Formats: sequence, structure tokens, C-alpha cells
Amino acid sequence: MIRYINNLNLNFLNLMPYVLEYNALNFYSTVKGHPLRDQKKHRRLKKRMLSYIEDELKEDAEMADSLGVSYRLPKLKEVISHFQSLFKIFQNYGQVLDLRDQNNLKTGSRREDYPKYFNRNFHFQVNGYTSESSAEIYDHQVEILFAGMAAPMRRLLLNEIAPFKKGKILELACGTGSATEIVAKFLPDAFITATDMSYEYIDYAKKNRPFHNVTYKQLDATSQTERADCVYHVFLTHEVPSQQRREILRHQLASLKPGGRGVIIDSLQVGDVDFLSEVLYDFPKYFHEPFYKHYIENPIEDILDELGAKRIKTTYRLFSKCVSFGR
Ligand SMILES: C[S@@+](CC[C@H](N)C(=O)[O-])C[C@H]1O[C@@H](n2cnc3c(N)ncnc32)[C@H](O)[C@@H]1O
Repeated sequence: MIRYINNLNLNFLNLMPYVLEYNALNFYSTVKGHPLRDQKKHRRLKKRMLSYIEDELKEDAEMADSLGVSYRLPKLKEVISHFQSLFKIFQNYGQVLDLRDQNNLKTGSRREDYPKYFNRNFHFQVNGYTSESSAEIYDHQVEILFAGMAAPMRRLLLNEIAPFKKGKILELACGTGSATEIVAKFLPDAFITATDMSYEYIDYAKKNRPFHNVTYKQLDATSQTERADCVYHVFLTHEVPSQQRREILRHQLASLKPGGRGVIIDSLQVGDVDFLSEVLYDFPKYFHEPFYKHYIENPIEDILDELGAKRIKTTYRLFSKCVSFGR
């Protein structure tokens, strides 16, 4: 029976627990005075959104089929750890609500070498990106936020990295290593260096996502100078102030070897998918996202163009876009 479960079925199956969990968290949060979405807008857009999601998940599954990638059911160990982290998320949520009530946005300086903008409770996440306990629940929290659709968005990477089978790959802002895992399995013969500003997230990735072709290390993407055939990042640019965003892209472009490719995956921006533009403006209303509005209003492609990037190409999947470019 299992062999009849194809990539598309698995995409839909994977959504189910997270859709339930999102609704449970939204209910709890709403009762406490902090809804996670605009309910009226949600009802108005629901039908269109569902048909959009269905089409996009089909396209993701077709892409995976064409690249020979097979999704799989979770192992028992993963199901157990899913429920453990779900418990931690709900346990932690009281503190998240306190942060919201107090509008407490700063983590306090946890390390001297973290820049000021980084010491924040992004998404009202307790300790932002600066503690082990935050790293432990990050992946699951992101999946709840995206109702189980983070992986199809990260997989926009696959078509772009496919030519670099034995290449040197540099990942910026790898966080806990979710995108790293996708890339490491897809390119077993590549040499991947996965980096992030957060010492705590890098430690988590080292422990929980070790791969023979991946080396993890702490690195600030605004000042990195390593050269590689492909340099990519996922969900980074909306999290940083405009000046740092530009610096990251400038360094990313400069670090491409001849024939190399930069790849950026991040949120859609205003005008990318027309009917979703109004939803993008809601995100910073419900989550602490101090740099998001500036991000969605300033196309990544324009910044790359100003920096002199060539062959700028954009593709879309669900609530994300993928911009690739060369020198
Ligand atoms: C939304 S998370 C994305 C993580 C991961 N790429 C993913 O797909 O889940 C943003 C990440 O950017 C990292 N970050 C923020 N500013 C950074 C910088 N200047 N250099 C490197 N990493 C940075 C954070 O530590 C965090 O792990």
C-alpha cells in the first residue's frame, strides 16, 4: 500500500498535523487576546487560497518527480519527537504571550559579538535566535506557522543547485539546518559549508543534522568572503535591516566563482502574487517582524540589479519566491 503513496499524497498528508496545530495555537492565542490572523480576511480569501495551495503542491510534487526525489512518511522516532516538541511549544507559549503583552522585543545582550538588531525576540520567539531552547522548537514552530508548507518552499532550491553536483556550496543563515538537509541529500557528492550567525542554532544543526558532505560553522553573512560555486540562503533577507540585507547580497555576489550561482529563497514581496499582497502586510501585525515591511516593499531583484548581478531569474512557490543570479 505504501508504494501507492506518491509525492503529491505525501505533500497533503504532511500538512494535516500542522493545519490542526496551527488552528489549536490560533484558538489558544485568540482566547488570550492575540489572534494569529485576520479572521474576516481569512474567510474571504479561503477558497482562492485553498485552490492556490493545491496547485502549488502539485507543482512541487511534479518537480520532485522530474528530479527523481521521493518524499517519505515520517519514522516512528520522528513522530515521537514531533509530539515532544509540540508539548514544548505549547508549554513555551505562555512566555510568548507575556512577551506580546509587554511588547518586549529585546532578548537582552546574550553575546557581545551579536549585532544589536540580532538580539531580538523575532516572531516573539522567546530568546529570538539566541538560545538552545529556541533552536529546539524552531523547526516545528516554522512548520506550524506555514501549516506544514515550509519544505515545498525550501525545495525551490533543488532546480537551482542541481548543476553543482560536485561543487563547493555555501549556505548562509542555515539556522537549524532544514534546508541544509534537503541539499545534503540531493547532492551527496558536493562540498557544503553551512553557516549561521547564531552559535546556538549552529550547535543544534551540528548535533541533529550531521551529514558526511556538510561542515557547519558560525558566520555573519554580512561579512563573509568565502568563495563557492553556489551560495544560497533561505528565509534570511526579511529578518535583517535594509543596510545589512544589501551587504549580504553584495558579499554573496562577490563570493561567486566564475560560472557560479547565487540563490535566495524568501517571502513573496508585494506584487509577486497579486491576491496575496494584502496578506503579506498582515504578517508583521501578528508576529514581531521589524524589517519585514521594508523587505516586501523593496524587490530583491532591484537590489541585485543595482549591485550588478546578471541573469536574475525569479520563480514562485506558495508564499515564497526564489531569485537566482550570476556575476
Ligand atoms: C528565519 S531563520 C531561517 C533559518 C533557515 N535558513 C531555515 O530555512 O529555516 C533566519 C536565520 O537567519 C540567521 N541570521 C540572521 N542574521 C544573520 C546574519 N547576519 N548572518 C548569518 N545568519 C543570520 C538567524 O540566526 C536565523 O537562523
